[in-house]
Amino acid sequence: MRIIAVANQKGGVGKTTTTVNVASILASQGKKVVLVDMDPQAHMTTFLGIDPDQATEKSCYGVLTQSQSLEEALIPVRESIKLLTSGLDLAAAEQELVARVGREVILRDAIGSYQGGCDYCFIDCPPSLGLLTLNALGAAQELMIPLQPHFLSLQGLSQLLETVLLVHKRINTRLKVSGLVFCMYDSRTALSQEIVRDVTDFFEQQRNQQSPWRDIRIFQTRIRRNVKLAESPSYGRTIFEYDTRCHGAEDYRALADEIAAIGEIETADNKTGQTADEAAEETAVVDLNRAERMQARAMYAGDDKQVNGVVGDEKTSAGHPAPSVPLPEGIESKDNFESL
Ligand SMILES: Nc1ncnc2c1ncn2[C@@H]1O[C@H](COP(=O)(O)OP(=O)(O)OP(=O)(O)O)[C@@H](O)[C@H]1O
Ligand SMILES: [Mg+2]
Repeated sequence: MRIIAVANQKGGVGKTTTTVNVASILASQGKKVVLVDMDPQAHMTTFLGIDPDQATEKSCYGVLTQSQSLEEALIPVRESIKLLTSGLDLAAAEQELVARVGREVILRDAIGSYQGGCDYCFIDCPPSLGLLTLNALGAAQELMIPLQPHFLSLQGLSQLLETVLLVHKRINTRLKVSGLVFCMYDSRTALSQEIVRDVTDFFEQQRNQQSPWRDIRIFQTRIRRNVKLAESPSYGRTIFEYDTRCHGAEDYRALADEIAAIGEIETADNKTGQTADEAAEETAVVDLNRAERMQARAMYAGDDKQVNGVVGDEKTSAGHPAPSVPLPEGIESKDNFESL
């Protein structure tokens, strides 16, 4: 089973649209898919035609706070697709779990004990880097990042990569950033092309580093802006149920092919067997409030400049603020980061 978190703390970049439509095409190819809606906004739940208010008994909230198993909580929503629904109560889970030991690995343990069998588990994250996203990253083998080619995207990417480093170090050593997809892409604008070039260059320069994103694929498929993609959720339909021939459907078919081609990630240092208590001991130092993130970054980077600001002063060749992240342990040189 591939467990893939779809995350970007920036809102409205295409996380849910990508998750639902990629899952839908993979299911149509005979794959068994589990979808986890980790967003209290419950957009994925609504998108798939479930009223979040009706779904509270079996839900992500139940799994995170009431020890519900996935077998109990999953709802079949399409042929070969089961959904762990979300609802507004999920927003309260973060508060309720604040004192719980091992709170960052509840989802990981729930997925680890799931006996239902599936080929893909996609976790749709909320637009934040709080406990819910942390649970998703703690459970996943792969992170897929939807990115809008937008001026501020690179700054958001820096924060996300910092979080990935923390999670990789403290919670989930098997986590890899496996893919990045540009959504709402407009090939006619110079800005879109520049951002694609900047992001591609940035990750190319990281190939030789020991970072969790060294094997990232910048997907060739770019999801074009397409009004059908914006319309289909209001009918509770995937793009393939709404308009199978539009650009949006074409793009998501191609993206699903690229994702399927990645194949299973190596999980040699897989920690799934770890108990919640063991994990809690490790995760006790991880709490993604800003002060602690800064401290953790200092620990990784040993670098005052990195501690004082989220994004460095460097600029990309196109003059945009460059992604700037602390170095993973074991990396001596900062050259690749500073060359941006
Ligand atoms: N390629 C596209 N073309 C046009 N509209 C799109 C496209 N992709 C997504 N949208 C629309 O943009 C909005 C945001 O998309 P989506 O909900 O997938 O983003 P998100 O990252 O999940 O948002 P959030 O951070 O709020 O969870 C939605 O209204 C969606 O229908
Ligand atoms: Mg969403």
